[in-house]
Amino acid sequence: MSEAFIPMADPRAVFLAHQAEITRAIEHVLNSGRYILGAEVSAFEEAFAGFIGSRHCVGVNSGTDALVLALRGLGIGPGDEVITVSHTAVATVAAIELVGAIPVLVDVSEATRCMQPGDLGKALSERTRAVIPVHLYGQPAPMAEMVEFAKAHQLYTIEDCAQAHGAMIDGKKVGSFGDVACFSFYPTKNLGAIGDGGAVVCNDAGLYDKLRWLREYGWKNRYISDMAGMNTRLDEIQAAILNVKLKYLEEENEKRIALAGLYADTLAGTALSLPRQFGGQRHVFHLYVIETEARDALQVHLLQSGIGSGIHYPQAVHQQPAYRGRIRTSGKLEVTEKLVKRILSLPMYPQLEEEAILRVCQVLHGWEGR
Ligand SMILES: Cc1ncc(COP(=O)(O)O)c(C=O)c1O
Repeated sequence: MSEAFIPMADPRAVFLAHQAEITRAIEHVLNSGRYILGAEVSAFEEAFAGFIGSRHCVGVNSGTDALVLALRGLGIGPGDEVITVSHTAVATVAAIELVGAIPVLVDVSEATRCMQPGDLGKALSERTRAVIPVHLYGQPAPMAEMVEFAKAHQLYTIEDCAQAHGAMIDGKKVGSFGDVACFSFYPTKNLGAIGDGGAVVCNDAGLYDKLRWLREYGWKNRYISDMAGMNTRLDEIQAAILNVKLKYLEEENEKRIALAGLYADTLAGTALSLPRQFGGQRHVFHLYVIETEARDALQVHLLQSGIGSGIHYPQAVHQQPAYRGRIRTSGKLEVTEKLVKRILSLPMYPQLEEEAILRVCQVLHGWEGR
């Protein structure tokens, strides 16, 4: 009998691990008759702000909306420039354009695959208003240096934490360093809903009020728009699911970290480049991304061996058809362009068995010895 397929991610396995509790939580909402901005959303916002170590949280419809709302909340719009990376999910850049601002894309560090503070100076202009570091794959970007640069140039720092719920630098969670931080609860994320969801966290009470108003048509009081807002509410069912799953997030992050350790130990000595970990930083391995010259062939080989993998992402944002030739980059993005040809995301989710990791590693060792 052939061995079971090992997927790269398995959001259903995460659901099944908490099935009884999640089903009860959904039924509770169904019976409550309150489906939008009720007790579940409030409870989640309080718990998630506490988890990050920030004062406030606003639940929204998606990670993309979280970024749009954060930008709007900070008053960033047409004519303003925002510096971010090209090596990210397209949503980071799309959100900047959705508010009418101009993205300026910088390269990433080869070691962290995240924005590096040294690259920011040359992307700066008198129109720059904010920087958006992305904690990609669960790896924290160097926030102390980033915030220092932003403060020195009167810029806002917006953290894109969509892939890094629970990642830390010196014991402090990412999302608590910048002026505001944005999270996605897309089903495969470390904290995932069963549908779309997102959140914005911040410490400033004035910004928090503005974010809440903008989230719902600019209403300070129901039916009266004091500002032109949007509709990006987190719904009660998703919030109820997130309230259940948040309780297990730390345990599941630890599981991811342990599985990453097993990959690292078992693949040591191969020619594959493995994700790096740095002192004082907690990488939460949303994705376990290796690098190899023969990426495409290896991906096919894995698939033929019953193993799923992914490429995050096959083209950098500035190379994609919607952006190519018109998006502004800060010089040549050499590391980014090299990375996109080499990266491969191996199976990684908290319910993955150690035996499955060992099987993946065995196939990788076999590939090396071919
Ligand atoms: C780095 C990053 N930013 C933003 C987003 C957007 O989140 P969502 O898909 O919830 O809109 C994602 C999700 O894929 C992401 O990975």
